[in-house]
Amino acid sequence: MSRVIFHRPEDRHRPAPALAPGDAVRDVYGRPLRDLRISVTDRCNFRCTYCMPREVFGSDHAFLPHSALLTFEEITRVAAVAVSQGVRKIRLTGGEPLLRKQIEVLVAMLAQLRGPDGQAPELTLTTNGTLLAKKADALARAGLNRVTVSLDALDDALFERMSDSGVAVATVLAGIDAAARAGLAPVKVNMVVRRGMNDAQILPMARHFRGSGHVLRFIEYMDVGNSNGWRMDEVVTGADIVRLVNDEFPLRPAQAQYRGEVASRWAYADGAGEIGLITSVSQPFCGDCTRLRLSPEGRLFTCLFAEQGHDLRALLRSGAGDQALRDRLAGVWQARGDRYSERRGQAHRDHKIEMSYIGG
Ligand code: GTP
Ligand code: 5AD
Ligand code: SF4
Ligand code: SF4
Repeated sequence: MSRVIFHRPEDRHRPAPALAPGDAVRDVYGRPLRDLRISVTDRCNFRCTYCMPREVFGSDHAFLPHSALLTFEEITRVAAVAVSQGVRKIRLTGGEPLLRKQIEVLVAMLAQLRGPDGQAPELTLTTNGTLLAKKADALARAGLNRVTVSLDALDDALFERMSDSGVAVATVLAGIDAAARAGLAPVKVNMVVRRGMNDAQILPMARHFRGSGHVLRFIEYMDVGNSNGWRMDEVVTGADIVRLVNDEFPLRPAQAQYRGEVASRWAYADGAGEIGLITSVSQPFCGDCTRLRLSPEGRLFTCLFAEQGHDLRALLRSGAGDQALRDRLAGVWQARGDRYSERRGQAHRDHKIEMSYIGG
C-alpha cells in the first residue's frame, strides 16, 4: 500500500522562471504581479462571527457612503493598468459583491480587457451565495468565468449561528447549483474551519460535495482583521483535515495547476473529484504570493494583513493620465516586501484591515 503524504509536495518555492521583456512588474522578493482582487463594497448581508461580528458591525456601523466608492469606470481603469502590468486573474470580492447594484455591468466592462499578449484575464468572483440563484445567468452572460461560494456548514442551525443571518443552507446550495448550470464552473466552495465550531461538519461537507463537480476547499481559520478574537487553538490544520477525510475517502496529492496556487489539491482516489486545503497558518504561501488588492474606495493593499493602503482614488479623480497610474501601481508593487503569514508570531499588528473591507 502506498504511503500517504499529508503535506503538500514542495512546489511552492521553485525559482521564478526568467522574465520575458514587457512581462509583469516584480516586488522586492521577485514576485510578479499576477492577480488583482477587487473589493466592490464593504457591506454584507451576513454577519459571520469570524468576519463581521454584530457587536462590531451593528446597525450603527458607518459603512462607506456610495460617493466614496470607486465607480465602475474607475475600477475598470485600474484593472486595465494592472492587466497591462502582468495581471492575469481578476477576482471580485466584498463584503458581498453581489450587493453592489448592477455588478454584472462591471463584469461586462472587465470582460473587455486584454493583456499585452492579447489574452483576456480570468474573471472570477467570491460570494456568500445568497443572491447567486438570481444573478448567475446575468453574470455568466456578462463574461464572468467562475465563482467561489463561501459555505461553512450544512447543518442549518449551525450555519445560521455562524453567518448570523437567518439564511437557510438550501438558499446557498441553490445558488451553487444555479452557478454551475450557468457555466460558472467549476464552482469552488470555501469552508472556513474553526475548531469547536464547525469542525464536525468537515466530513458531512466532504460527503455532500464529493462527486458533485464542485470543488470543496477547507480554509484554516486566520487572524485577519481585528475583531474575531482569533486564537491558534481554534485552527484545525490542513494536514489534520486531509487525514480525517482520507480515513473515509482515500486521497492522493494532485499537482498545483499554476505557480502560486493558494490551495493545495487532493484528489479522491476513486475519481469522485478533488478537495483543496488553504493552509495560510500551518504552511504559509507568501513565497509565491502574486496578489494585489484594491479596496472599495480605491486603496491598494499589498497584503491581506496590511495595516495601510496606498490611495489611488485621489490620483484617479485628479485627471491623471494612464502613465501616471501605471507608475503609481508599479511603484507600490516594486516596494512590496510583505510576507505576513510566514512571520506570524513575530509580526504583531494592531490595526489590520478587515476581511469584510478587502475580501478574502
Ligand atoms: P482560484 O484558485 O482561482 O479559485 O482562487 P483562490 O484559490 O485564490 O481562491 P479564493 O480567492 O477563493 O481564496 C480562498 C481563500 O484563501 C480566501 O478567501 C482567503 O481566505 C485565502 N487567501 C486567498 N489569498 C490569500 C492570500 O494572499 N493570503 C492569505 N493569507 N490567504 C489568502
Ligand atoms: N479566516 C479564514 N478565512 C476567512 N474568510 C473570512 N474571514 C476569514 C478568516 N478569519 C473567508 C470567508 C470567505 C472568504 C472571502 O474569506 O469565509 O470564504
Ligand atoms: Fe461572511 Fe463573507 Fe460576509 Fe464576511 S464578507 S460576513 S465572511 S459572507
Ligand atoms: Fe500574500 Fe500577505 Fe497572504 Fe502572505 S500573508 S500570502 S504576503 S497576502
